Amino acid sequence: MISIDRASCVGCGLCVRGCSMGYLRLNEGHAEIRERRRCIACGHCAAICPKRAVTLRYEREEDFTPAPENELERLLLMRRSVRHFKPEPPPRAVIERALNLAEYAPSGKNYHAHRWTVLYGLERANEMVERALDFCARTGEARELLKIKAAGTNLLTCDAPCVIIAWSPDDALNPVVDPVVAMEQVELMLNQAGVSTCWGGYLRQVSDADPELRAYLGIPEGCHLRCALMAGYADREKYVRIPPRTPAKVNWME
Ligand SMILES: Cc1cc2nc3c(=O)[nH]c(=O)nc-3n(C[C@H](O)[C@H](O)[C@H](O)COP(=O)(O)O)c2cc1C
Repeated sequence: MISIDRASCVGCGLCVRGCSMGYLRLNEGHAEIRERRRCIACGHCAAICPKRAVTLRYEREEDFTPAPENELERLLLMRRSVRHFKPEPPPRAVIERALNLAEYAPSGKNYHAHRWTVLYGLERANEMVERALDFCARTGEARELLKIKAAGTNLLTCDAPCVIIAWSPDDALNPVVDPVVAMEQVELMLNQAGVSTCWGGYLRQVSDADPELRAYLGIPEGCHLRCALMAGYADREKYVRIPPRTPAKVNWME
């Protein structure tokens, strides 16, 4: 999927940091590809490299660039999932504002049936991680999380000092779509405020399987966690380019 130009690589390790799959490593001062690892073609390695030493084999001729002075397009294109966070959480007021603004998101029949749980502070977030991983160890759920954790990476929350969770009743009109729409608005608002984020799909998977974790998160019976967002200040993970994406696959019907 990618190639690395050793002559241009300065061994800064940023591409290794940007790769959530452990596909890259530093060896004798240069980045290199690790065998038997999977690349998910997210393009983070090329987008983070200050020396343009990483080339994506799937790169398109033309990249999508934001229209000049269009702040929303810039935000949509420059937003990245970040996996390394500083330990201090963003101010509560910033999170609260984003959550309150998300109440203005569209919601079927204006129900807004979803509720939020915020794990605020590293200690609290890590306590939840311990519980979730303990469940995975006992049951075999999301087994890969434990393997990756043993190698030093916590893909459940990426050690984010704040984890925002949206949950809703199973019998809500739109139990999944409404909270997901709202969460994406939260993500963009936080990104615009300088707070980095990453969706937590693994956390949803584990909470679906573990009623005790749901109880710990204050999610009542008959409700489920619909989406989770890690949030915090990025720690040496700054993207300088936009990774390529394939054009939209559209069935135009006129
Ligand atoms: C529903 C959903 C669940 C995700 N779950 C995780 C997760 O559990 N852990 C993680 O590190 N990244 C997770 N991601 C982030 C994706 O891997 C990321 O969006 C993708 O690689 C593209 O990178 P980008 O967001 O920077 O464009 C998730 C993204 C979405 C939309």
